[in-house]
Amino acid sequence: MSLVGFMQAGNATVYSGSWRHPATEHGFLSASYYQKLGRTLEEGCFDLMFFDDRLAMPGVYGGSVAEAVLRGARPVKLDLSVVLGVVAAATRSIGLGATYSTTYYSPFHVARTFATLDHLSEGRAAWNVVTSINDSEAQNFGLSEHLGHDERYDRADEFLEATTGLWDTWEDDALVLDRENGIFADPDKVHELNYEGDWYKVRGPLTVPRTPQGRPVLLQAGSSGRGLAFAARWAELIFTGDPGIEVARSHYAEQKAKIAEAGRDPDAVKMLPMAYTVIGESEDHAREREQLFLNDLVHPMASLTLLSELMNYDFSGIELDAPITDELIESSSGVRGLVKNLRANFGGETMTLADLAGHRATLLQGPRFVGTATSVADQMEEWFDTAACDGFVLAATHSPGAYEDVVRLVVPELQRRGVFRDRYTGTTLRDHLGLVRP
Ligand SMILES: Cc1cc2nc3c(=O)[nH]c(=O)nc-3n(C[C@H](O)[C@H](O)[C@H](O)COP(=O)(O)O)c2cc1C
Repeated sequence: MSLVGFMQAGNATVYSGSWRHPATEHGFLSASYYQKLGRTLEEGCFDLMFFDDRLAMPGVYGGSVAEAVLRGARPVKLDLSVVLGVVAAATRSIGLGATYSTTYYSPFHVARTFATLDHLSEGRAAWNVVTSINDSEAQNFGLSEHLGHDERYDRADEFLEATTGLWDTWEDDALVLDRENGIFADPDKVHELNYEGDWYKVRGPLTVPRTPQGRPVLLQAGSSGRGLAFAARWAELIFTGDPGIEVARSHYAEQKAKIAEAGRDPDAVKMLPMAYTVIGESEDHAREREQLFLNDLVHPMASLTLLSELMNYDFSGIELDAPITDELIESSSGVRGLVKNLRANFGGETMTLADLAGHRATLLQGPRFVGTATSVADQMEEWFDTAACDGFVLAATHSPGAYEDVVRLVVPELQRRGVFRDRYTGTTLRDHLGLVRP
């Protein structure tokens, strides 16, 4: 089983009420907080800690960021390459993943950032490829609105061709470092790229030699038709947001078939659903904690704010009991796949805005494993053993406590059962994930 920590470099986890939890540490502006998180997950032999990102405060709802600021609905997002740099210095084995947008960064910038991180971390870097989701982000980069959904993916294909090309501009043995003869590197082994697409032109070479992993690991989480095809072509680790085990099994089979169709080995690409864990000393204790962690702390306005952000749709003019129709979903240019799945599985045609907002407050989607350490391990194993996933990307109800609970209570149980490693056997993230070096 692969385990990934779903991290946020900001004031709240994906659960927008997390900052209000009494056990949450408000260390999100300090290096030591992220270093401690890294060390905790490394103690639990996690494959990777991965940080999500957005390039704007949530400002789609009512055309204003006021509610996001007031309610702490994720208004703070730090720069991830700096955060991962300090975590790299405090850890030795755990993989380090960051989200960078193909819509708002450039291939050279992204290739250089992750190649640098791969060197400085000695082979632990991963890039979560996203196309970004809303107009608030566009408005921070000189555009008035976000590009259309499928066009973003077309651009992302080119972006990846250019970025992976840049990572290959240095051959593995290009560095010579011969002091005596004054030969630094072999010019026959450092190549221009001369990439020319419809959107990008990059000459190259990259200014960073080929990295310990050959290339950083590519993460992706597309769930629409176009997103699945993109992931099948590029992703080495896929994040999903499936609401239940049946949906997850069919998504798993569909995505793995698409990977095979794309000419790649489906077993080499792991699929990990996002999941929350709430662990208690007894089942009742766990339920009480669930109520507190996931239901009582979130403000309804924070939910609507984040829902508008996610779907790139201003819900401020819509009644709470209005149904979520196909037309509404299609007219949003944000994360359509997730909302479609959620509606299909929870409310069908009768799902209302209030129902949808309720899910965004707590879970977005994905399983919620609640119980004692033994029963949480049972639930995780059931998903893992029945072709619903290859592991999990674990979100936190509060931080760092939720990660500490998993590491100290559930991981030992999974290790006893022989489904999870009890030590790192390799040194790079590719080693942990069983991925070949390109
Ligand atoms: C676990 C997980 C993490 C994600 N992290 C981010 C993120 O950090 N930034 C972002 O813009 N989108 C993020 N997404 C959204 C995806 O990039 C993607 O837009 C979404 O899954 C919908 O797929 P689609 O674009 O194919 O409709 C995440 C999705 C999942 C399931």
